[in-house]
Amino acid sequence: MAKINKDYTKLQSSYLFSTIAKKVNAYSAANPEADIIRLGIGDVTRPLTPTIIGALHSAVDEMADASTFRGYAPDLGYDFLRSAIADNDYKARGCDIDADEIFVSDGAKSDSGNIQEIFGRDNKIAVCDPVYPVYVDTNVMAGRSGSFDAATGKWSDIIYMPCTKETNFLPELPDKVPDLIYLCFPNNPSGATITKAALQEWVDYANKNGSIIIYDAAYEAYISEADIPHSIYECEGARTCAIELRSFSKNAGFTGVRLGFTVIPKDIVVEDVALHSLWARRHGTKYNGAPYIIQRAGEAVYSEAGKKEIRGLVDYYMNNASYIYNNLKAAGYEVSGGVNAPYIWLKTPDGMTSWDYFDYLLTEKNVVGTPGSGFGPSGEGYFRLTAFGDANKTIEAVNRICK
Ligand code: MLT
Repeated sequence: MAKINKDYTKLQSSYLFSTIAKKVNAYSAANPEADIIRLGIGDVTRPLTPTIIGALHSAVDEMADASTFRGYAPDLGYDFLRSAIADNDYKARGCDIDADEIFVSDGAKSDSGNIQEIFGRDNKIAVCDPVYPVYVDTNVMAGRSGSFDAATGKWSDIIYMPCTKETNFLPELPDKVPDLIYLCFPNNPSGATITKAALQEWVDYANKNGSIIIYDAAYEAYISEADIPHSIYECEGARTCAIELRSFSKNAGFTGVRLGFTVIPKDIVVEDVALHSLWARRHGTKYNGAPYIIQRAGEAVYSEAGKKEIRGLVDYYMNNASYIYNNLKAAGYEVSGGVNAPYIWLKTPDGMTSWDYFDYLLTEKNVVGTPGSGFGPSGEGYFRLTAFGDANKTIEAVNRICK
C-alpha cells in the first residue's frame, strides 16, 4: 500500500502567500466594488524592458528555424549566460567565481527549496526569525524540523535567530552551532542589510565550525549604500563555506518568465565530497535546464542597454520604497527597511497582532500587505509592505493607511 511522506502533514495548511491570496479573493468576491491595492507578495508590476523583449523575440524566431532551433538546454545552463553572470555579477566585483560554478535554474524560490536535498537529514538548520518561509517549509518536508509548538510558533529542531528591533533586525551568531545557516541579505521580509565586516564574521564562523551558509542574495540589485556586500563572495573564505542564490525576478522583473541561478564554488567540500558535484548530479537528474528563450533574455540583462533599463526598474521601485518609508514615518509609524531593499517593515499600530492589522487594512483601507507573523514568531506585531507596486497605487495605498 502506498504511504505518504508524513513530514508533509506537519506543514501549515497552505503556504503564506497562498493563504493571503485566498483571503483577499474571498473579500474581493464579497465586495466586488472594493478597489483593492496589493502590496503583499513581492511580485513585480512593471513590464519587461525593451532590450529583454527584443532578446525574447529573436530567440523565439531562432526556435522557428531548423538551423537555429534548440532542444534540451544544457542542464547546468548555456555557457553564454553562465559567462555573462560570472563576468558581471562576480568578476566585476572582485569575486573569484568561474562560469562553471554557476548553475542556471528557473528561479531562486525553487533553488532555495531544493538545495537542502544535497544535505543529510540529520543536519541542524538555523534560520533568521522572521524568515522567507520556503527555507523552513522545505526543511519540514525533508524531515529536519522536529515538531511544531503552536504556543511558540517554532519547530523543535530548528535553530531560530531572532532579528528584532534590539538586534537591528540582524541575526546574532548562534551559541548552538548549526550545520546549515540560511541568510538572506538584503533581507526578506525586513529589508535589513548587513555590512561586509558583519558578513565576514558569519563566513569566519562557518569556516571555523564546518557549517555551510546558504546565502540568498535575490535582492542585491536594491543595495544603495556603500559597504553593503552584493555577494557573499566579497568576503574572504566564502569559497569554502557559502552557496549563493540569485534571481532575475526582482532586478529584471522575471517573476513570470522564471530565471535564477545558484553558485557553488568547487572549494566547498563536506565529508570529502564537493557540493558542486552533488548539486550538478542533482540538477542533471531532476532538471532539464531553463528554456533557451529565457536564458537569452537573461543574457540581455547584462548588455549595456539591459543594465541601464534594469537600473530604471530598480529606481522606479525604490522611489515607491522611499515614498512608503518617508510618509509612514512622518505619520508616526515605526518603520525600517526600504533603503537597500524593496520591503518596508513596520510596527503595527496600537499593539495589534500582524493578522489583525492585515484584516483591518484589507477591510477598512482595501490595502493588502503581509503579516509579519507569517514569517516567524519574531515577526509578530510587524507588517511588510512591498515597493513592487504601481507608483500611483502605492501613493494611494500609503495615503489611505495614513489617513
Ligand atoms: C515575497 O513576497 O516574499 C516574495 O515574492 C516571494 C518570492 O519571491 O517567492
